[in-house]
Amino acid sequence: MTDSALLATLRSEARDAPESGIVEVFNYGRGRPGLIPLWVGEGDLPTPGFISEAANRSLADGETFYTYQRGVPELREALARYHMRTFGRAFSPDRFFATIGGMGAIQIAVRMAAGAGDEVIVPTPAWPNLAASVGVGGARPREVAMRFGNAGWTLDLDELFAAAGPRTKALFLNSPCNPTGWTATREELQAILAFARKRGLWIIADEVYHRFSYGAPRSPSFYDVAEDDDRIFYVNTFSKNWAMTGWRIGWLSSPPALGQVIENLVQYSSSGVAAFMQRAATVALDEGEAFIAEQLARARAGRDIVCRGLGATGRVRFSEPAGAFYLFFAVDGEPDTRKLALRLVDEANVGLAPGASFGEAGKGFLRLCYLRSPDQVEEATARLARWLGR
Ligand SMILES: Cc1ncc(COP(=O)(O)O)c(C=O)c1O
Repeated sequence: MTDSALLATLRSEARDAPESGIVEVFNYGRGRPGLIPLWVGEGDLPTPGFISEAANRSLADGETFYTYQRGVPELREALARYHMRTFGRAFSPDRFFATIGGMGAIQIAVRMAAGAGDEVIVPTPAWPNLAASVGVGGARPREVAMRFGNAGWTLDLDELFAAAGPRTKALFLNSPCNPTGWTATREELQAILAFARKRGLWIIADEVYHRFSYGAPRSPSFYDVAEDDDRIFYVNTFSKNWAMTGWRIGWLSSPPALGQVIENLVQYSSSGVAAFMQRAATVALDEGEAFIAEQLARARAGRDIVCRGLGATGRVRFSEPAGAFYLFFAVDGEPDTRKLALRLVDEANVGLAPGASFGEAGKGFLRLCYLRSPDQVEEATARLARWLGR
């Protein structure tokens, strides 16, 4: 059988899942000597030792068996404490579920909210995995383009609401946003919640960058405006705050009434997160505030360096991000940023992600992750500025 004949036998939703444009550039430039990698969404600091040591202790203690599908009780209690500290009110441990990264939380949320023939509204530019995950599940992502203008990136709520049709089951909102840094105001969250309540829609609230907020200790959250039993899936992760991208552990928060359904979906997908990782995550939540402050200071310094350095070239357009840790910028005279990202690997030795990977509205932009040592961000900015000035 030829390769294409073999592929033709697959379920189309799996076969046609798009290749991530970010991974394409990453694969192209991986391993180049001296390349500064600003293409994926992670910093350069390894996981702090006090977190890794908790995993080592757990393994040494023999925690190598199957574990709770919802997460070990100690982790779920630590999540409730973390949320109480961060959002200033009480949370039940019953609403938290350990998942395989933030991506695992998205997967499970999408499985619950939308299936074949349904639609999920996705404001773009957006991290591509949500829309792809909706598609693989047989539903259709419906993009609503955000606008870039003098006020930076804006989401027109009337357009967002107008996109909801009879097949719409859920609305995705990532704030602070990867890649633009756009951050919803409390009023916007309130309006979106009111609309979702009126129309009986689920909200998939991706708040993984909630601590990376430059104007306040955290970004506005649906937790500020919603009731505990509102139809909201909150997606979160240990990846960003605690430099744990490679561990693959995150959490889903939902009304506790869904507990048995979520337990079942975990059982029939990953069958749970390794206990030793959950022990590490518990320590991260309880003892990781100083590290988060360090990460935020690094992100702030990186943001200032790239905004100043690229802004001075006069060849790029961007709005200063209010949250997350990316600069999303357009280069005058360079509409094809997939090609441009590949060229910048060869000619500037800097790895960036092409904007079209984040949806139609991202075309013509590049994403740069600035959560790195200030020296490296300075050097990458200087290389890009030299390239732009040629
Ligand atoms: C907006 C957004 N949501 C979710 C995730 C997933 O995080 P994880 O790496 O924990 O799966 C990411 C990762 O980049 C992200 O940017």
